[in-house]
Amino acid sequence: MNILVTGGAGFIGSHTLIELYKAGHTAVVVDNLSNSNPESLRRVEEIIGAGETPAVHIPFYEVDIRDREGLEGVFAEHKMDACIHFAGLKAVGESVEKPWEYYENNIGGTLTLVDVMRKHGCKNIIFSSSATIYGDPAEIPITEQCPKGQCTNPYGWTKSMLEQVLMDIQKADPEWNVVLLRYFNPVGAHPSGRIGENPNGIPNNLMPYITQVAVGKRKELGVFGNDYPTPDGTGVRDYIHVVDLAGAHVCALQAIARRCGIGIYNIGTGHGYSVLDMVKAFVRVNGVDVPYSIKPRRAGDIATCYCNPAKAKAELGWEARYGIDEMVRDSWNWQRQNPEGYPDLNQN
Ligand code: NAD
Ligand code: UFG
Repeated sequence: MNILVTGGAGFIGSHTLIELYKAGHTAVVVDNLSNSNPESLRRVEEIIGAGETPAVHIPFYEVDIRDREGLEGVFAEHKMDACIHFAGLKAVGESVEKPWEYYENNIGGTLTLVDVMRKHGCKNIIFSSSATIYGDPAEIPITEQCPKGQCTNPYGWTKSMLEQVLMDIQKADPEWNVVLLRYFNPVGAHPSGRIGENPNGIPNNLMPYITQVAVGKRKELGVFGNDYPTPDGTGVRDYIHVVDLAGAHVCALQAIARRCGIGIYNIGTGHGYSVLDMVKAFVRVNGVDVPYSIKPRRAGDIATCYCNPAKAKAELGWEARYGIDEMVRDSWNWQRQNPEGYPDLNQN
């Protein structure tokens, strides 16, 4: 299939491009580069095209998904079979400060994208949703039957609302196939160390913070709370290797080819690891020190969040292959080889 990948220059999008080409698909990327660097796409082409002649070229358009004419231009040039929709703003804290910008970008952008898609007869979409839509989950491990919860920030609400928008569109027009992938906590990087997570400024998320401490960019990790009702008191999450996560999108395309209608899947490993489990694994596997100190809880955090991924296995034939050791190894491999991230991106 030929796939429109919005946000394809970003962390998860760039890894997904590799899995798409490995599975025999082709892609067209649309990204406004608001949180990414085109160097990621150059390196993706390098990885996909290793040893191949002619070199692989992935068409890239620096277009904002809110720009209807820009999107129309892309659809005029390429026939698209499906869209994998990663484009969106994702910083939880920033979304609290700038709710309008988050609703406008994520919801406004998706509405424009979907409208242009249907006008061009492309009614297949895989949407990047998030475990955050479960709020403080009613059950652990979380199945897809678990009710959606109260989100603690506007970013989470954009995901929750967009799930509803896409399901309503499919209900009104059954020609649509909509797959909602609820990601748990993506970490890791491509094993080559050529592409990885490239946060702008101070990382919000645990793994990039750990790697930046390990590489000497930051003094120590703050562990947000050690008084949660968890085995060691620190927060427990379902970390998933980004290469596994990328592979889930390829499996979801098979569901679309089978005309699945609506498909909703948790994408995690089903294992919960605490903050200190992650720090200890990182130190053990990589042989580097990660100084940390205990800080107060972070507002909006929950104690425990991990999923039951059985539905994705049963219906998509997908399951995670990588464990915690590969996650911390590949995160470090990327950071170590690219201490400043991709070149030219203004980092501090
Ligand atoms: P990312 O920021 O690395 O990638 C998102 C990409 O979208 C970036 O390249 C950015 O430039 C682009 N973008 C943003 N707004 C755009 C717009 N209006 N038009 C065109 N491009 C735009 O983030 P990621 O970690 O790769 O996440 C991908 C998707 O997965 C996002 O929708 C995110 O919300 C979702 N998600 C991420 C996580 C996570 O922890 N990383 C967890 C759950 C869900
Ligand atoms: N943590 C620290 N110190 C840090 C950063 C995080 O102790 O410097 C802790 C948090 O308190 C939490 C755990 O590490 O217990 C994971 O935190 P992250 O910020 O890495 O991830 P979250 O689970 O808070 O949220 C992430 C994404 C959300 C997404 C969610 C579920 O940021 O966008 O996973 O997919 F919705």
